[in-house]
Amino acid sequence: MASAWSFTTAQSLLTRRERTYVCIDRWWHRRYPNAVNGKAKRLDALQRPWKLHYCCRTRSVAAFLDDLALHGTHVDVRLDDEHAGFLNIAALMRAAPQAHFYCCGPKPMMAAFETAAKDAELPSAQKHVEYFQSQGDIESQGRFHVELARSGKALFIPQGKTILETLRAAGVRTTSSCEAGICGECQVKVLAGVPDHLDSVLSDAERAANRSMMICCSGSKSEKLVLDL
Ligand code: FES
Repeated sequence: MASAWSFTTAQSLLTRRERTYVCIDRWWHRRYPNAVNGKAKRLDALQRPWKLHYCCRTRSVAAFLDDLALHGTHVDVRLDDEHAGFLNIAALMRAAPQAHFYCCGPKPMMAAFETAAKDAELPSAQKHVEYFQSQGDIESQGRFHVELARSGKALFIPQGKTILETLRAAGVRTTSSCEAGICGECQVKVLAGVPDHLDSVLSDAERAANRSMMICCSGSKSEKLVLDL
């Protein structure tokens, strides 16, 4: 199992101005190789305090170890077969109460991160998560109407279909990338209605503001959504 610092997590680090960044990652594909090293170098150049806890099962499957070693004590490589027990995430949070914490990886790790954040009473503004899949069951979504304000089109989203899939089938062109609720590429403005947010992009405050949604995965709590498309 190899892990990587994903592009969107790293990108968000570079666009924020908080003082300290702590990243906790676990992933099992050899992806985003340039993001790991390139963004770390960039943070060094900007003299931003940061720490990456890079979690993998074994050394033999951990990618980029040579590159990450160049960043010295900024990087903590946590290998399951070399360390007793899991990373104590709550302890990290308590030790750096002003830091912003970013986490991405598979669901069990994300659940541990959320639990730790609750235990450590980490303010939600300092908690940043990136799931590698949408957080809901798309099969149970659908059965609502969508009106496209700019084109005047009206569409019904069938059960098990996303807004994006339905738009595509109707010949409506829009942008997307991950189609799993993690990249933000499909974000559209919501003009009316209440989305059922299932993405991992919007913060709690952005969800509550009800101004935009990810149409690749999110559904609707209202009978109809009016979108700025
Ligand atoms: S396409 Fe990536 S969040 Fe929708």
